Amino acid sequence: MQSKSTNSGSSTIREDLEINESYLSFKKVLNFWKYPVIFLLLFCFAFYLFSKLNFNSSKYNSSIVHFKNQSNGIVLCNANLINNRMIITSAHCPMKLKSVDIYLEIGDKIVKEYYEINHPDFVAINNKNDIRIVIMAEELKGSYDFFQLPIDDETLPKILTAILWDMTSNFTQYRESKMQVVDLSKCQELWKNASSKLTLSKNKYKPINSNQICTWNAANHEKFDSFQGDSGMPLIEKKWNGQKVLHAIVSYGHPKHKLPNINTKIQSHLKWIKEVESQYIK
Ligand SMILES: *[C@@H]1O[C@H](CO)[C@@H](O)[C@H](O)[C@H]1NC(C)=O
Ligand SMILES: *[C@@H]1O[C@H](CO)[C@@H](O)[C@H](O)[C@H]1NC(C)=O
Ligand SMILES: *[C@@H]1O[C@H](CO)[C@@H](O)[C@H](O)[C@H]1NC(C)=O
Ligand SMILES: *[C@@H]1O[C@H](CO)[C@@H](O)[C@H](O)[C@H]1NC(C)=O
Repeated sequence: MQSKSTNSGSSTIREDLEINESYLSFKKVLNFWKYPVIFLLLFCFAFYLFSKLNFNSSKYNSSIVHFKNQSNGIVLCNANLINNRMIITSAHCPMKLKSVDIYLEIGDKIVKEYYEINHPDFVAINNKNDIRIVIMAEELKGSYDFFQLPIDDETLPKILTAILWDMTSNFTQYRESKMQVVDLSKCQELWKNASSKLTLSKNKYKPINSNQICTWNAANHEKFDSFQGDSGMPLIEKKWNGQKVLHAIVSYGHPKHKLPNINTKIQSHLKWIKEVESQYIK
């Protein structure tokens, strides 16, 4: 009896020791991994904060172009780099009159020598075919981040990411806005119904067609829709591989953000873009 109890006693001690050993080795592992894990968590958090705070012009400074007034540096319009010679913008943007009155700003580079080719069927009174190609006289040198053109028969996503000016930043920072693509017939009806109430002549109902894409920010259209100053800004699809597909550019909208925005659909103009490219870029 006695020896048995001693045996069981010593085995309990052994088990305790084993537990202690495995606890110690667990602690060792914990000690070893504690710092990398804490470091990783801190790093992720810092990265998150950094990307939140740092969401500004530098994120798209190598793909979005600004048209600026030479005399006061004010942003007149926006455009999108699609390769090292070509830029896509809205045809309703002001055109260069003399060689110096408007220049292009791409990141920290200034481009003064360029040609502008408006869509041949652009109609200024109703913004039909509101698209212009800008060809830079010289190839851009440096690392730029081009927008991809959509593919001919690609289905349009239901949600597009609009890159717009942050209204509070006086044209110094962008914001991203998730925009829902609105069904064309619904959009036509909404604009048509509202047209009688739109008294300003420039906001009169402009029939919308399938070369345009209507978008709406359901969550906060008062604050996060495009506004005056966003003309030519991109609406993109972000692909898993980092590509940014340029599906549309901002054309016009309701002055008080009460109706969907109207954007020029890039897919409708692919043939023309290719023609201009082969004609002007040898
Ligand atoms: C550029 O700014 C000048 C001076 O403010 C103004 O007179 C001119 O009309 C502007 N040009 C454009 C194209 O807006
Ligand atoms: C964009 O901004 C980043 C960060 O400020 C800078 O490193 C980069 O050179 C800029 N790109 C262009 C094309 O200016
Ligand atoms: C906005 O920017 C313009 C041109 O860069 C500048 O002249 C103007 O003073 C700025 N306005 C405010 C309110 O900061
Ligand atoms: C447009 O107006 C018609 C007639 O008033 C109405 O029946 C219809 O529901 C309206 N459509 C929309 C999308 O509001």
